Amino acid sequence: MTTNTDPLTEQPIRAIINTDIPGPLASRHLFGHFAEHLGRCIYDGIWVGPDSPVANIDGLRADVVEALRQLHIPNLRWPGGCFADEYHWRDGIGERQQRPRMVNSHWGDVVEDNSFGTHEFLALCEAIGAEPYISGNLGSGTVREMSEWYEYITREDDSPMSTLRRANGREQPWRLKFFGIGNENWGCGGHMNAAHYANQARNYATYVRAHGDNQPYRIACGPSDADYAWTETLMKTFGDLTCPKCDPTPLHALSLHYYTFTGDWEDKGDATDFTVDQWYRAFDKAWQIDRLLTRHGHVMDVYDPDKKVGLVVDEWGAWWNPTPGSRPGFLVQQNSLRDALIAVLHFEAFLAHADRVVMANIAQTVNVLQAVLETDPATGALIKTPTYHAFSMNIPHMDAAVFPVQLLDAPVMPGEFRDLSLVHAYASGRDGCLTISLTNLSADQDAELTIDLRGGEFAEDVAGLILTAPAINSINSAEALETVMPQPFDDASFNGGLLGVRLPAHSHVQLQIAGVFDRWRG
Ligand code: AHR
Repeated sequence: MTTNTDPLTEQPIRAIINTDIPGPLASRHLFGHFAEHLGRCIYDGIWVGPDSPVANIDGLRADVVEALRQLHIPNLRWPGGCFADEYHWRDGIGERQQRPRMVNSHWGDVVEDNSFGTHEFLALCEAIGAEPYISGNLGSGTVREMSEWYEYITREDDSPMSTLRRANGREQPWRLKFFGIGNENWGCGGHMNAAHYANQARNYATYVRAHGDNQPYRIACGPSDADYAWTETLMKTFGDLTCPKCDPTPLHALSLHYYTFTGDWEDKGDATDFTVDQWYRAFDKAWQIDRLLTRHGHVMDVYDPDKKVGLVVDEWGAWWNPTPGSRPGFLVQQNSLRDALIAVLHFEAFLAHADRVVMANIAQTVNVLQAVLETDPATGALIKTPTYHAFSMNIPHMDAAVFPVQLLDAPVMPGEFRDLSLVHAYASGRDGCLTISLTNLSADQDAELTIDLRGGEFAEDVAGLILTAPAINSINSAEALETVMPQPFDDASFNGGLLGVRLPAHSHVQLQIAGVFDRWRG
């Protein structure tokens, strides 16, 4: 594709950021990840075992640990996904050689040897500095099993489960806040209807108890896509939230799953062999997350106007047709610049809805779906995908105050996708630094912007990074690890108090400016 040298608009697109009118805090947990026993995510991706020739830390692949640590992953969801509702945690503790095997019926029908279990997962979280988020088994497990798992992990004294944990080599309890009460129980997690699940969830959640000062944050299985009826049934069943003493709810949040593809579930579209129309269609589909968050939020507001119940988007991302020749059920797909821009559209939506959305998890961490890392089986190379770099460039938004950005005169995408702007912007402030993230979705034209920073005082030095690539479907591979990599960006400067930026076609830019702002927060 050739790039047109004319910018998108004759006059620069105007943006206004009022840094004295902060929005909500964007939790770092909006940038969470998800690792399921699926394909080569856990085995080969994260876990190679202590006897592996691959460099490892007690069985955890060392380069993967280091790459995830650098990403400041705030939380990691495990063991599924659909796998969670057929996982029996007691099979994954104790001597590894003695652990029973099971069939992973959802993902490739492979035999799972349970060598990666509770202790290994929590060691991984400690190694990468992430908070664990465990999904319990409501679909095929018992209330007692779920209750005892939480006790095993978090209890201090000599209770039956803490004694068992100690016998397995872990003296101190772990901290575990985030706990899922099943997964996709409207589908792979038991094919339940909403009312049945909602009652089950109240029951199971009751027995996921606080031990000592470790308080669980219980996340119910919420809807997929636009299933507002599921959300409504759950919210009703949560009880009267304005009167906690009347009917205290054992649930704190509900989840939402939303995947992006350009076709349908049978033929989702190719990961790298796509047309310009499919480039735009992908962003149009990705941006539907914004509408879903608005509408599910409206339903929740009716029952919970104070927004006490969180919305947790614990599965999102691009889902393409599997790489030809890859093993069925392993959900292997390539990751291009398009995926990175799909990711940043999600970040923008999460920040815009940060008053309700408390957590989000991309699917999945290594070698599966929109992975941030790939381990190449032939060369052993670790590949940081374009999506990895999208995450790394958005670290400054973690736990920062959101500043809404008003974009004026922004051009829209072509044809049937004209509801969506070609240029996107979001901003936040933390520790005396304003971070502005800009995205130009145009396949072939640059965009010029002038940004008016109001309500603060800013240094006129701008530090910039850009993520772009020679082609809209560029990838990183074992042979070319750095085709899509953040590079220094210097096409932003102050002129007459306005920040002018030239944003190249198909790019994402991070600008950082030191300043005094957000005076309402002191
Ligand atoms: O992420 C892959 C699968 O997608 C998960 O196991 C399931 O929850 C969802 O349908």
